[in-house]
Amino acid sequence: PAATAKPPLQILLCSPRGFCAGVTRAIDVVETALKRFGPPVYVRHEIVHNRFVVESLKAKGAVFVKELDEVPDTAAPVIFSAHGVPKTVSEAAASRKLTTLDATCPLVTKVHREAEIHFKRGRHVILVGHAGHPEVVGTMGQLPEGAVTLVETVEDIEAFAPPAGKELAFVTQTTLSVDDTRDAITTLKRRFPAIAGPHIEDICYATTNRQEAVKQVAPQVEAMVVVGAPNSSNSQRLREAAERLGCKVAVLVQRASDLDWSRFQGVSRLGLTAGASAPDVLIEEIMAAFAERFAITVETVTTVKEDMFFPLPRELRPDAA
Ligand code: F3S
Repeated sequence: PAATAKPPLQILLCSPRGFCAGVTRAIDVVETALKRFGPPVYVRHEIVHNRFVVESLKAKGAVFVKELDEVPDTAAPVIFSAHGVPKTVSEAAASRKLTTLDATCPLVTKVHREAEIHFKRGRHVILVGHAGHPEVVGTMGQLPEGAVTLVETVEDIEAFAPPAGKELAFVTQTTLSVDDTRDAITTLKRRFPAIAGPHIEDICYATTNRQEAVKQVAPQVEAMVVVGAPNSSNSQRLREAAERLGCKVAVLVQRASDLDWSRFQGVSRLGLTAGASAPDVLIEEIMAAFAERFAITVETVTTVKEDMFFPLPRELRPDAA
């Protein structure tokens, strides 16, 4: 009967979305370590910012800790998360003779090395990033205290007073807003024309591609749902991008149960994407929840095809068994 017919809803599924090569590798590190060494394996920090992923690894025997001192003296391996760690953490692990496996994304490690090279060349390093994010803590922790200044906004850059007589360089967090970072870098180069830095910026391919797909879809829909965790930087940036491009509803949800259905009343076109740490099963869960309430049709909007792959750390490759 017409009275109970579901309203139509077209879903535009952003592609690329969800897992990046760094997240796939980090989860693979934990799973391979569990198989190779047996449980428990310790993981410092959420391996990737997704509760669902963390819970499923916990169920397989991974033990998550905030800091290294929560790890007992053990022969079990300790895994560092995809976000990277300050040098003090790897040094503390080495002095305790813990076995460590580094799941830091190679694209984060690349930023660490850039920062180190600038420092060795005598430059003061400006890091564009979000205070408190574990990647920022890890990148700042590659260099001695005081060698890096964190700036979060164009205003911070305008207010920055460089140390006297020092050349400057910049690096960035990998999961920033592409547009905001362009503004930040323009400001840096205007104020300090001689500043050294990466050719484009350090934002990773996955962050760039997921934002690009959202920008393509957002103008065509009334609402955008981003699947991801509130502490996931790249997921937050996807939500913001949709909002800036005029989506009246732009929400970040972890699970279908987080959806506030009152906000989707009258919506006929919906964009759907997921941050780099959100597994596709959660996208499926969200789609199923919409299908219960709407007559959905799904179209995928692909802006670029990804084929990035990062091999496991050497210690975990099959020939190292
Ligand atoms: Fe690495 Fe970018 Fe993913 S830095 S972990 S590829 S979001």
